Amino acid sequence: MSSYEEIRPRELKPALLELDGISRLSVEAHYKLYQGYVNKRNEILGKLGSADLSAANQVYSEIRGLKVELSFAVGGIKNHEVYFEHLGGSGGEPTGSVAGLIERDFGSAQAWRDDLKATGMGGRGWAWTAYDWDEGRLFNYIGDAQNTYPIWNATPLVALDVYEHAYFLDYQTDRGAYIDAFLANLDWAVVNDWVSKYQIPLR
Ligand SMILES: [Fe+2]
Repeated sequence: MSSYEEIRPRELKPALLELDGISRLSVEAHYKLYQGYVNKRNEILGKLGSADLSAANQVYSEIRGLKVELSFAVGGIKNHEVYFEHLGGSGGEPTGSVAGLIERDFGSAQAWRDDLKATGMGGRGWAWTAYDWDEGRLFNYIGDAQNTYPIWNATPLVALDVYEHAYFLDYQTDRGAYIDAFLANLDWAVVNDWVSKYQIPLR
């Protein structure tokens, strides 16, 4: 068992409580779910320390149960850290270097938006715009749960949460209206900071 350190939830930016079209009530409830993923990640890693490795079994075993659910908890942490971090802006057209990447890989910002929205309507939990380091391009990937179906060696730059908990309070079943609100609150400066920090090649 590798060693681990407990992690703590990241603070919620104050701007997240004043989004346009996504209520404070909804964001506060959503943040509590994120805190739950962090707590469970710590709890599971603690329990793994004393799991009986010799009893490992693919049908059922302690190590299987803990590791499968660890992937859900860690996915929940990573997905929501992207989600919360890049909201709080004013949406609109992409700016900066990510605008060029979107234009190159989708043809236009509108084509990217249409494809991401459709991916979000088709997913049961997530849609991500990610840069695939092997293919050298952006793509809108689909996710059903926190731990399905991330792609190895791809870096998410936009994480659209389409779990019902993200929008049911504000939009009931109108997911499309929520996706429009999500796009209207995107902070492109944050996305551009990631493009720079991860050194995503611009050509
Ligand atoms: Fe969520």
